[in-house]
Amino acid sequence: MATPATTEALRRELERLEQADLYRRRRIAAWSPELGPAELVVDGRRCLAFCSNDYLGLARDPRLAEALAAHARTGGTGSGAAHLVAGHGPEHQALEEELAEFTGFPRALLFSTGYMANLGLLGALAERGDLVAEDRLNHASLLDASRLSGATVRRYAHADAAAAVRRLQGAARRRFIVTDGVFSMDGDAAPLAALADAARRHQAELLVDDAHGLGVLGPEGTGSVAAAGLQPADVTALVGTLGKAFGTFGAFVAGGEAVIETLVQRARSYIYTTAPPPPLAAATRRALAIARAEPWRRARLETLVARFRHGAATLGLRLLPSATPIQPVLAGSSGVALQAAAALFEAGLWVTPIRPPTIPAGTARLRITLSAAHEEADVDRLLEALATVAALRAEAGA
Ligand SMILES: Cc1ncc(COP(=O)(O)O)c(C=O)c1O
Repeated sequence: MATPATTEALRRELERLEQADLYRRRRIAAWSPELGPAELVVDGRRCLAFCSNDYLGLARDPRLAEALAAHARTGGTGSGAAHLVAGHGPEHQALEEELAEFTGFPRALLFSTGYMANLGLLGALAERGDLVAEDRLNHASLLDASRLSGATVRRYAHADAAAAVRRLQGAARRRFIVTDGVFSMDGDAAPLAALADAARRHQAELLVDDAHGLGVLGPEGTGSVAAAGLQPADVTALVGTLGKAFGTFGAFVAGGEAVIETLVQRARSYIYTTAPPPPLAAATRRALAIARAEPWRRARLETLVARFRHGAATLGLRLLPSATPIQPVLAGSSGVALQAAAALFEAGLWVTPIRPPTIPAGTARLRITLSAAHEEADVDRLLEALATVAALRAEAGA
């Protein structure tokens, strides 16, 4: 038990969060085969969900479940050790090779999560005396990673390559430009061509976290780098996650031989942790093959995004400039975001309100995400419900 003084201080802070509409609550969400692919039972209520990162609709694909179960039966469930001890199996190795081939980089290295991949990457490459320029809307894991590395961290104005360059001025051993490929809470794409050009001109390393672009953007879903017309050689390292478009769990870093081998030797979040379960690697290999072979999933997403944006703009909702399946609707205050999400939930639609500190103060939003598991009729149902949420329209000045 915490001491009475600490307990009291924690209680006061929790009350402050509650009063500021910033308290977060988990809901229990369950899927079972009798539900539609985008449906969930949430706290006992059947809902159509618009808040998952399962962009390609693979998380409940029976082919992935079969790959996972088959490998668990014949190869066991757990890896039993870290990759460098005894935990690196043939499925991990094959998946790394396939991810390298998919992304076009010489090598790829698996991590247990995207958060850990970012910690490992920046921790291994950057140190005190280095300069890291981070987009101010980068994912928290990238910001935490560069801060933990000991380097000097400077945040630049969102999606502004010239501002990134200004942040790299001064003496340094190494310079880094670090960006999300697709911004997780806004859905817009980083100006990767301009950032790559800036990195080249200023001898900086460009690190791209494409958690929300891989599988979704570019030819065969190869991600934001290809979608921006760049080659893998334009980027020092690419981070990809496997728990979003690929429908499983985990992450990887792709890069050149020297970068990846440095991660093997130095990335603490790689070395000092148990390797992911091998059946998960088997399921991810299946997901990767399906994602490449079924372009209809990306085509459907494009159709759904266009349909949603057209409908939401007609309703006078405040959208952000996003062409990806992440389609936030601005609410402004946390209270309005909570109220709007609650109204949608009553109508059987699950959308999560996103509030500070995840996003800047005054920009609370409904983070609506679309998936190839949705039908056009699902988007229409969401739009009909949004039309009835007066709080959102009032906030938009409608
Ligand atoms: C841009 C970005 N990077 C990294 C992560 C972390 O990935 P993971 O969930 O695999 O830890 C996320 C979200 O979870 C993300 O949105």
